[in-house]
Amino acid sequence: MGIRLWVGVGVGVIVLASGTASAVTPQQLANSKSCMACHGMTQKIVGPGFKQVADRYRGDKGAAAKLATKIRKGGSGAWGPVAMPPAAVTDAEAQQLATWILSQK
Ligand code: HEC
Repeated sequence: MGIRLWVGVGVGVIVLASGTASAVTPQQLANSKSCMACHGMTQKIVGPGFKQVADRYRGDKGAAAKLATKIRKGGSGAWGPVAMPPAAVTDAEAQQLATWILSQK
């Protein structure tokens, strides 16, 4: 009886944990990391709209890696003189965001 209860609790925790991880969409990540303060989905705010970014790099196979680095480290010169500040994201999050931005149509 006691053992059964603990197995049940363990499975519940695993299901809950994996559910939370997959529930964070790139859109939510972009919101929580303040990307949307400077970027519109389609229109420029401080930085270019994400659809504009996708249009620019369409067909560029190295773009995802390049953009992921830019998201982590920041930089300027690609769109104008205004610099993007480095973002407090992990490497995996930067990759996820870059892939998502490039998938905008
Ligand atoms: C303070 C404003 C600001 C914030 C916050 C910001 N950006 Fe930017 N972003 C910019 C500016 C300005 C540029 C243009 C930089 C340039 O011309 O090279 C830019 C450029 C970009 C580019 C295109 C880079 C290139 O080389 O073409 C991507 C992709 C991007 N941002 C993603 C993000 C993501 C994802 C976040 C959130 C983690 C974010 N940005 C947060 C201002 C911002």
